[in-house]
Amino acid sequence: MVQYRAAIAAANPEAARAIADAIEAASGEDLAVSWFDDPDGWSVAAYWDGDRPDLAGAVLEIALAHGAEAEIGALPDIDWVVESLRSLPPVRAGRFLIHGSHDRARRRANDIAIEIEAAQAFGTGHHGTTAGCLEVLDRLGRARRYRAPLDLGTGSGVLAIAMAKAWGVPVLASDIDPVAVRIANQNARLNRVGGSVHAVTAAGFRHPLLREGRFDLVVANILAGPLASLATDLTARLLPGGTVVLSGLLPQQRRLIVARYRSRGLRLARSIIRNGWLTLVFNR
Ligand SMILES: C[S@@+](CC[C@H](N)C(=O)[O-])C[C@H]1O[C@@H](n2cnc3c(N)ncnc32)[C@H](O)[C@@H]1O
Repeated sequence: MVQYRAAIAAANPEAARAIADAIEAASGEDLAVSWFDDPDGWSVAAYWDGDRPDLAGAVLEIALAHGAEAEIGALPDIDWVVESLRSLPPVRAGRFLIHGSHDRARRRANDIAIEIEAAQAFGTGHHGTTAGCLEVLDRLGRARRYRAPLDLGTGSGVLAIAMAKAWGVPVLASDIDPVAVRIANQNARLNRVGGSVHAVTAAGFRHPLLREGRFDLVVANILAGPLASLATDLTARLLPGGTVVLSGLLPQQRRLIVARYRSRGLRLARSIIRNGWLTLVFNR
């Protein structure tokens, strides 16, 4: 699905915060908002999925009310991203090494190597959210053996493959995007865990395997909006003593997500920031 972004130039940090708060209050969980200081001054960015004139209108109105200008547009086509990713170097996160086929020779004896080519799905390990999740998974797996993990929003399948390789267990993976699901299953086969990773197309928990599943670990690297909306469904399918890893979050979205998952009976166990992206770990 095409993602849209509104970029709003703000006069100062107070204005940026006020605009971001107003957008969040008006549009709720359908979009993710952040405000930050970039080289051109203070900015607010709001992201949402699909062509939503209602959200675009609300954002424009709020910007106008604050005397700021908003620029709204679709984000570049995913193939553009692919092109820029082709020659990326391997990435280490915990014991995991994520590399392209051209870097097979760089694997070391104790690495858990995962081969992922830049393709039409997110997740080559280079992004702070993926790397943060991999680091957390490496740590979690040293302390405990998970038997029923779910990777929600699997993209390239990288996290599902990491769990299947590290722990030798079956992993259910899902994505709203059927292209990502095809690529995740292909990548699982390429990494010799095709028999362990099963990726299905599903929006949130709208698939029998997810709806009726019970998981001792759920990893979800998607944006704050969907993560907030999924809190009830997700926690309902978490086994007692289970763990939840959430990423795709900006530090300023921490409060919202922590409150949402705490109110569903989870306890925040850990929070890490990698390349400016926040990953949260909760226990039941
Ligand atoms: C940031 S990527 C994460 C990919 C991979 N798990 C990683 O960590 O690199 C987010 C993925 O979540 C998927 N996604 C977004 N919203 C979703 C939803 N409501 N249900 C399932 N998948 C979703 C997107 O299609 C995308 O492939």
